[in-house]
Amino acid sequence: MYSSFQLAKKYLHYYFTAANGKGHGVHSPFVFDFIAHVLNDKKKYDCYQAVEERRKQLLKEYTIIEVEDFGAGSSVIKTKQRVVKDIAASSLKSKKFGQLLFRMVQHYQPKTIIELGTSFGITTSYLAKGNGNAAVHTCEGSSAIAAIATQTFHLLKASNINLTTGDFSSTLRPLLSSISKVDFAFIDGNHRKASTLEYFEALLQHAHENTLLIFDDIHWSADMEAAWSAIQQHPAVTLTIDLFFIGIVSINPGVKARQHFSIRF
Ligand SMILES: C[S@@+](CC[C@H](N)C(=O)[O-])C[C@H]1O[C@@H](n2cnc3c(N)ncnc32)[C@H](O)[C@@H]1O
Repeated sequence: MYSSFQLAKKYLHYYFTAANGKGHGVHSPFVFDFIAHVLNDKKKYDCYQAVEERRKQLLKEYTIIEVEDFGAGSSVIKTKQRVVKDIAASSLKSKKFGQLLFRMVQHYQPKTIIELGTSFGITTSYLAKGNGNAAVHTCEGSSAIAAIATQTFHLLKASNINLTTGDFSSTLRPLLSSISKVDFAFIDGNHRKASTLEYFEALLQHAHENTLLIFDDIHWSADMEAAWSAIQQHPAVTLTIDLFFIGIVSINPGVKARQHFSIRF
């Protein structure tokens, strides 16, 4: 993991080199439409307030839970005690990116969505609210965390969510076999190169020309930057968008020239 100083330097580099977020000079109809109708959509959608209220509750929750730690690539699971509010402060995707994911789902209307890393279900709820007709399959390793996510889904009346508990290494493939095709996936757990590429390859086998894969924290560590770079160079990948805190991947084979964008957001 990079230090705060290294990350700030990387962010500044991104900020000053990325396209300006207005779409000027962007020669990709997909990206132009994404900027105009998703990235820059400033409307306050109905669900925003309710999801953010739930985040606020979690940020004030002093309950201590026993959380499994999936260790550095090892299958040995240790548990440690964590305060709910501390997890809420450090693990959840921000309001800005949660709402961006909501708008992406609303705009592209995927029917089958996968999230790796549920945590307390904040981003899951945004994904579910984006398309009430979609099935959102979310995976979480820690059963204590998953129990709190279940409460989130009840509170927010998000009924189109199916939560699977267990290590991704044993839950992802059976889940993929049961759902066949994936339209949209958000990979937000286990930020290691080997694991990220393993999930990418597994998802790729169930993807189609309109599938969008979203990777979290692509600049978080040298390992994650290496994973992002390998994904960008993968022969199946035709378009990537780097928003610094997330990376968006399209594998549309109809697109002839591979394109990579970095857009300020
Ligand atoms: C960053 S949090 C997810 C945050 C959530 N997507 C959000 O924005 O609200 C990552 C979650 O993935 C889970 N996780 C990490 N590695 C895992 C693994 N190998 N198998 C299952 N769950 C894992 C952690 O327990 C943690 O709750």
